Amino acid sequence: MRIFEQLESRVRGYVRSFPVIFESSEGAIMTDESGNNYIDFFAGAGTLNYGHNNERINNALIEYIKNKGPHHTLDMATTAKKRFLTKFSDTILSPRNLEYKVQFTGPTGTNSVETAIKLARTIKGRSNIVAFTNAFHGLTMGALSVTGNTFYRDEAHISRSNVSFMPYDSYLGADVNTMDYFRKLLNDNSSGLDLPAAVIVECIQAEGGVNVASAQWLRDLAMVCYDYDILLIIDDIQVGNGRTGDFFSFEEAGIKPDMVALSKAIGAGLPLALLLLRPDLDQWKPGEHTGTFRGNNLAFVASYEALHYWDDMDFSNAVKYKSDVMRKEIEAIAEKYPELNASVRGRGMVFGLELPDLGFCSQVSERCFENGLIIELAGADDQVVKFLPPLIIDEETLLKGLAIVDQSIGELLAERKEQLTAEF
Ligand SMILES: Cc1ncc(COP(=O)(O)O)c(C=O)c1O
Repeated sequence: MRIFEQLESRVRGYVRSFPVIFESSEGAIMTDESGNNYIDFFAGAGTLNYGHNNERINNALIEYIKNKGPHHTLDMATTAKKRFLTKFSDTILSPRNLEYKVQFTGPTGTNSVETAIKLARTIKGRSNIVAFTNAFHGLTMGALSVTGNTFYRDEAHISRSNVSFMPYDSYLGADVNTMDYFRKLLNDNSSGLDLPAAVIVECIQAEGGVNVASAQWLRDLAMVCYDYDILLIIDDIQVGNGRTGDFFSFEEAGIKPDMVALSKAIGAGLPLALLLLRPDLDQWKPGEHTGTFRGNNLAFVASYEALHYWDDMDFSNAVKYKSDVMRKEIEAIAEKYPELNASVRGRGMVFGLELPDLGFCSQVSERCFENGLIIELAGADDQVVKFLPPLIIDEETLLKGLAIVDQSIGELLAERKEQLTAEF
């Protein structure tokens, strides 16, 4: 690992939590240089929904390269892009009665968010944007300004001007409808809240601690936006692309956002981001919002293949089935160790196990890794263990991974007890 310590910036993060050198990966398994296997419950932070080295996707990429398909073409028309757009429209948009234009942004999630808030401000001629407590939308300046967590933000380099934060669903407890508060502020011309151009929201705040907004809260939010002429931007970068069992996380609520930011698994493991826009919002002048890496042809090829998972309901049903397996097993872990006061949240195949004992989650993640499982943390204080396996994981491997979490917590608690006994 010396070369990474010597040459790579201190900013490196995940390599510290998972300090081995990975050499190969397949499906839901990663293998290090010493031949140790790890079950992957992190899935590239939601990028590898279709697994590592998916055979169908790999074969298509190999074929494309063999045939000398162009890799980089800025935003010129290519066969790969044509096939992707046609497939995305036929398989994802049309069956859901969604009419969106597709804007390719720079290839990361934060690029898509930047584009959405810039366009919203331009169209509405208003500067304010509403974001929510515990939101995570990326780390470039605009996206950072609508991200809640102060760990990523320093007063010195980014100001929150033109952004107002509202309480997310259940932020003030299960009994308080935070949408009533938002509506009241909008209704009161003395509240101090500037009418926003847009609201940006995640239907499930994955990084923020796996906070799940209810379908009703999302419908109320959509109604508030409609009543006050505010654009609704859904950030579906992490929990879209099938993570909830539906392709989009907002489908369950039956709402139609004005814009949808997509990245991560839309490229099936390769860098790709896009912004879906209501056609009347597509008010850009040609070339007005540009960038060198918009629409990566290899990612179009990969994504085209991945979209075949959505040709029928089998994949979606399998995700919903595995979601039930996950919920049952994670709730059983929470019940098994009452001393942890754990709570379980989630939807689809993203779950959070909140352990209020600060610092314990990182011990769990560390021990899980020693026991052969890659699992990350979420929440402002890293107080949530976040379960985010590839959607294609088979049930046996899923159960094995869940058993490792159980085993690791059991070991840590037993060691803690032993220590306490020794001290007295
Ligand atoms: C909901 C959400 N939005 C935006 C981003 C930023 O994406 P990227 O890291 O690709 O810029 C992330 C990344 O984790 C995310 O989870």
